Amino acid sequence: MTLTIDIEPLSPVLGASIRGIDLRKPVDVATQKMLYQAFIDHSVLCFPGQELAAADQLRFANFFGRGDGGDRQKSRDANNRRTGQRGMMYVSNIRENGKLIGVLPDGEMMFHSDGAHRESPYRATTLYAITIPSQGGNTLFANLYAAYEALPQKTKDKIENLVTRIVYDYEAVDRADTIAADPVLPRAQHRLVKTHPDSGRKTLYLSRLMTQDIVDLPADEGEELLLELFDHCEKPEFVYAHEWKVDDLLIWDNRCTNHARTDFPAEEQRKLRRYTVSEPDAPVQT
Ligand code: SIN
Repeated sequence: MTLTIDIEPLSPVLGASIRGIDLRKPVDVATQKMLYQAFIDHSVLCFPGQELAAADQLRFANFFGRGDGGDRQKSRDANNRRTGQRGMMYVSNIRENGKLIGVLPDGEMMFHSDGAHRESPYRATTLYAITIPSQGGNTLFANLYAAYEALPQKTKDKIENLVTRIVYDYEAVDRADTIAADPVLPRAQHRLVKTHPDSGRKTLYLSRLMTQDIVDLPADEGEELLLELFDHCEKPEFVYAHEWKVDDLLIWDNRCTNHARTDFPAEEQRKLRRYTVSEPDAPVQT
């Protein structure tokens, strides 16, 4: 039987909604390739109304690269770096026995790109909505191709060869926390302008939460440029706000988008299940 798969844009900025596929069932290789192409074309895909067990979500993640399916562990080495395997985690404000069941902090989160503090960042992230608050808790996606393309040529020339330092504090929700934090936090250096390996398009690669400074510029000059570029990337014309519904499955491309989260009522529950997708040749340990 041939599936009729419907692909509809989610917004003029980025994203597509995909219907007509049941991700609990096997998906043939041709369809997997078609989904990968849609992922490259739209950067964010939403599959509404899926009723997925964790194993279904991991199988789906594997269509897009190497799904990180190990038993997630939270151990750290002597330098405070996480040593556990990457794996499933909840993004949630729910606490059991006084402890968060998820890893990311509550409330609003600034724009960031998952795994940018690693030498080999996550290619993609998948997030599946289990419990959603009555308001807020939207995930915002910024199109970093469009943000790059809209820059004046003079700025493009200035930033073409710059390299940034990216750092991540697992407890931080804003830039001040991250910058003030412990110097042994995991960090990496990346080019500020990258060429996406699949689309061949140029994209900005920086985020307000994680980009600490620009390696080759004096601190003040670098900070001024970063703040200008953060404001630019977050302009409404580059941002799509996803209002979650239970059973939405999203996948986004961390190589050309940033995402952020809006606040939501602390007394309401929010629970999403996350599997990341690594580059196939990335180290398996974190
Ligand atoms: C994330 O940053 O990976 C989670 C986004 C969200 O909670 O909406």
